Amino acid sequence: MTATGAAPGKVILFGEHAVVHGQPAIACTLTDRGVASTCTADADGPRLDMPEWGQSVRPATMERAVEAVPRAFALALAFVGLPPDAQVRVTMEGNLPPSVGMGSSAAFSVALLRGLAAFAQRPLTDDALLAGATQLEGVFHGDPSGLDHTTVALGGCVYFCRARGDAPSVIRRVPLPAPVHVAVGVTARAGNTRQLVSRLKARAQAEPRAFAPVFDAIGALADEGARALEAGDWPRLGVLFDVNHGLVNALGVSTLACELMVSRARDAGALGAKLTGAGGGGAVIAVCEGEAHARAVASALEGLPEVRAFATALHA
Ligand code: MEV
Repeated sequence: MTATGAAPGKVILFGEHAVVHGQPAIACTLTDRGVASTCTADADGPRLDMPEWGQSVRPATMERAVEAVPRAFALALAFVGLPPDAQVRVTMEGNLPPSVGMGSSAAFSVALLRGLAAFAQRPLTDDALLAGATQLEGVFHGDPSGLDHTTVALGGCVYFCRARGDAPSVIRRVPLPAPVHVAVGVTARAGNTRQLVSRLKARAQAEPRAFAPVFDAIGALADEGARALEAGDWPRLGVLFDVNHGLVNALGVSTLACELMVSRARDAGALGAKLTGAGGGGAVIAVCEGEAHARAVASALEGLPEVRAFATALHA
């Protein structure tokens, strides 16, 4: 028998990093980029192949993946109730570059769980899928806020705030009156989310009076951003992107490549641009006036060294 599972990639519109510290954030799935799993019965199982990722990742990135993927695979088998020696072969394929801020590990986790659950004929509720994805993302990132896998599992545009103390997590869909046309630029250099998050945590603990107001301001931007998105007010969204970029830069996670991409996007007439994801190499997102404008901004970004870019439309 063959069973399949899939999950899209994502971009963060507001609140990366601050979301780890209890602030709200907004992310949206990518319609044309993601990961798929195919699970087939195989007497030599369990096995997990990643033909495309294996070919495209750099050795350092691959080393990290080799450590984490077998552990995530074992957790996923157990989570769907399959034995550790299950006779299953999983092939993971996709078009999401790893470690650049587009949610490759969250998409991997959700697609793997969906495929294995279908193979085991044990359908997962949304809550169960989120619980399983939390475990797998923990393997990749240590202490994930939950923003990435929640967005990837639910799909669309999602406002998210992690649970804190007695307060439960907040998860709500953000309705969009029209697609948001954006350009996304990606550098060749991968970032390490786990390291970036833990370095920022240490800095924020050492300098709470410096970092707490920045986290608060980013959280306020996520709330304003939700209003701009719901109103379809793209010029305002652009202004809020610009402010969020300045604040995320203050957290020390941006790079020269990200700064160049943000400036280039603004020079090309983007309504606003910001780093998206964990940073440390990474990706930027620029809000544009329409489809043709997003393509023009993407092509301006591709004029920078070692940058790949694409235009896409974000949907609710
Ligand atoms: C990574 O895509 C997003 C971060 O905010 C980490 C997290 O939310 O767990 C940097």
